Amino acid sequence: SAQNTLEIRNNVYQTDEWTNITPKILSYIGLNKHLQKNHPLSIIRQRIVNYFYRSYTNSRGNPLFSVHDKICPVVTVQQNFDNLLVPADHPSRAKSDCYYINKHYLLRAHTTAHQIELIKSGLDNFLAVGDVYRRDEIDSTHYPVFHQLDAVRLISQDKLFGNNLDLHIFESSYKVNPSSFSPINSSSKCIDQSKQPCHTLEAVKLTEHELKTILLGLAKDLFGNNIEHRWIDTYFPFTQPSWELEIYYKGNWMEVLGCGIMRHEILESCGVTNSIGYAFGLGLERLAMVLFDIPDIRLFWSNDTGFLHQFNESNLYKLNKYKPVSVYPQCKNDLSFWLPENQDIDSFSANDFYDIVRNVGGDIVEQISLVDKFKHPKTGKSSLCFRIVYRHMERTLTQAEVNEIHSKIAQSCVEQLEVTIR
Ligand code: PHE
Repeated sequence: SAQNTLEIRNNVYQTDEWTNITPKILSYIGLNKHLQKNHPLSIIRQRIVNYFYRSYTNSRGNPLFSVHDKICPVVTVQQNFDNLLVPADHPSRAKSDCYYINKHYLLRAHTTAHQIELIKSGLDNFLAVGDVYRRDEIDSTHYPVFHQLDAVRLISQDKLFGNNLDLHIFESSYKVNPSSFSPINSSSKCIDQSKQPCHTLEAVKLTEHELKTILLGLAKDLFGNNIEHRWIDTYFPFTQPSWELEIYYKGNWMEVLGCGIMRHEILESCGVTNSIGYAFGLGLERLAMVLFDIPDIRLFWSNDTGFLHQFNESNLYKLNKYKPVSVYPQCKNDLSFWLPENQDIDSFSANDFYDIVRNVGGDIVEQISLVDKFKHPKTGKSSLCFRIVYRHMERTLTQAEVNEIHSKIAQSCVEQLEVTIR
């Protein structure tokens, strides 16, 4: 029946016990803010794309990288996780962190989900850009939909070492072995941060140098030549070694991107046996917020001309700073409830609660914080109190309209979480 199916972009999906995608989230699919004319996310996308077009050209002067920015965000669990060697028990797979359509399909949680299909289609230098979806807290820097740009570059033996026949990408002991395709355990602390066993140190060092040079160049293109930066060792299931680039900006170290040398098992699974690859991924919102002085992530979804008319893509290298027309006041309302009789505070899913608040309250919800929790000593029942801060980006809210939305949120919590309002 229609109740057990969901239609997304002309495809019909069976729902099941994994389904947690909401109508509100469905409404974002296809909005493509990263492609909207004069939108700050689109301006940052074009800056990065142009930087890559300029930085890598073939002998005829044409760009090496191709750009893929209209890929549907519905992906399989295999694309988002398994293909990228994300361990079966990795927390990023949890239902509480992703929007699942059903057991097999979800909205991509990163644009890295498209790596394998793009490499398999024969590409060796590409960028993938698009909307990604993650269940998360609610504040001025988190939103359940945001945008990422991912890149892959594959470098063959002769591209890396020219006609120097003494240098090789792979250790002589390395043999192509399809059965080696298995995730490494993320909890094991013994990941070799210098290189993967199959690679030679010289191949890794040369690729690392190219990767870090190109990414530092990108950071300078965006933030100016005088930035201070640092590379932090990190872990991603799909790269080894892996780093994060941080830059010092307005008094804080800010994470700009994640990157690394691609796990060779991934290339092998695509039939690529003679190249080493680098990959990176970055979030567009965070960059745009800093570069345009945009104070709240909800503004990227504004249809208000007062917001959109402030930006102009005709000169990508002159970014207008965002000027708030005025800052409208906040309204705060607390919501306290008892959990159902036998439910413990630890088993309460905050993300389920946040989704209800978003569905009912929409973008006027600015922040939610937990202000109190306790267990009644006699009845054993648990109580939670959340403070919801409401603020409209473009007008003043009345207390009456906030109260109405607040009680609708309370009502939905009673229906969906089986709580009792205090
Ligand atoms: N997908 C990673 C993220 O979402 C970023 C990344 C992409 C890291 C590619 C390394 C290589 O954080």
